[in-house]
Amino acid sequence: MSAELKQEEKDILVSVRDLHVWFELRRWGFSHAGYVRAVDGVSFDLHAGEAVAVVGESGCGKSSLMRAILGLHKPTKGSILFNGEDLAEYDVAKMRWYHNTQVGYVQQDPFGALPPFMTIQRILEEPLIVGGVRSAEEREARVQKVMEEVRLIPARDFLPKYPHMLSGGQQQRVVIARAMIMGPKVLVADEPVSMLDASVRVEILKLLRGLQEKHNLAVIYITHDLSTVSYFSERIFVMYAGNLVEKSKVRSLLNNPGHPYTMALLTGTSEPDANNAKTFKELPPGEPPSLVNPPAGCRFHPRCSRVIAGVCDAQIPVDIEIEPRHQVACWLYNNARAD
Ligand SMILES: Nc1ncnc2c1ncn2[C@@H]1O[C@H](COP(=O)(O)OP(=O)(O)OP(=O)(O)O)[C@@H](O)[C@H]1O
Ligand code: SF4
Ligand SMILES: [Mg+2]
Repeated sequence: MSAELKQEEKDILVSVRDLHVWFELRRWGFSHAGYVRAVDGVSFDLHAGEAVAVVGESGCGKSSLMRAILGLHKPTKGSILFNGEDLAEYDVAKMRWYHNTQVGYVQQDPFGALPPFMTIQRILEEPLIVGGVRSAEEREARVQKVMEEVRLIPARDFLPKYPHMLSGGQQQRVVIARAMIMGPKVLVADEPVSMLDASVRVEILKLLRGLQEKHNLAVIYITHDLSTVSYFSERIFVMYAGNLVEKSKVRSLLNNPGHPYTMALLTGTSEPDANNAKTFKELPPGEPPSLVNPPAGCRFHPRCSRVIAGVCDAQIPVDIEIEPRHQVACWLYNNARAD
């Protein structure tokens, strides 16, 4: 094993193994009517200090995956290891510690994420109080420091205000400040700029990138905007119907996409939209499948132009490395299929 690979193994912060997050459906709220398989067998490692982007169409399970990593959804099956410890084995106090101090969450809608009847001061003090910081002086100093880090200065102009008194960009800075105040090791940013004016998106992404580099944060960045991925991330995961179908370094994926779904997404991004964001709202043709009764074999097969009859519709593809550290779950690259 090379020295680089050994170091990478040492740096693994979060290990997701065969993760399943299913939601039970109940008919009229009573009888069992199946499961929504939002995350269905996902595995990856996240290293300290790296930024990974997760892309995929609406409803493919991105937020469910992130909420499981944040400790907000219990895995139905599989595991999430943090520094080698299985989250499933945390008791209530340890889970609170994990959730409050080790992971931060930047939501898509900053206004919805902030309690409307609390001042910014109170919002930022809350995690410190929950985290047991008893000294009012220390809390004040930490609030000041984080306000400077997110460039809400002078802090005294913002701290007495309520969320509705701030602009969308300022609200998102408060959300980022709240996520950062306990010094987390992992930050999950779930479409952090998609609801903001185009004019402030770049500033917020620059802020997040700056914080990531300064604090050696591991960041998971969910986005529909592929034009920001190479600026923000070192690796990219493509998610389809509850599975990660391609995992790669960003450059390698953009230059040499392997999965037909990724290829279709990239084709669909050639024209920037009105806000100059390269998104994939319109492609590929067809609908994503039901997550209650997903198609057999490769879940993309009903939409795939390169489907191999009798294989893709029957056998679940496994990850194949098509170049170093570039994995694709597709039968096109796998000679082990049972033709
Ligand atoms: N708490 C829940 N209970 C039941 N079903 C849920 C729950 N949360 C999510 N789902 C379902 O799981 C699937 C995946 O949803 P999820 O929000 O993870 O997708 P997403 O990729 O984040 O979508 P978007 O891009 O629109 O945010 C969807 O079918 C959704 O309706
Ligand atoms: S496994 Fe088959 S159906 Fe799925 S993406 Fe590859 S070629 Fe298409
Ligand atoms: Mg989502």
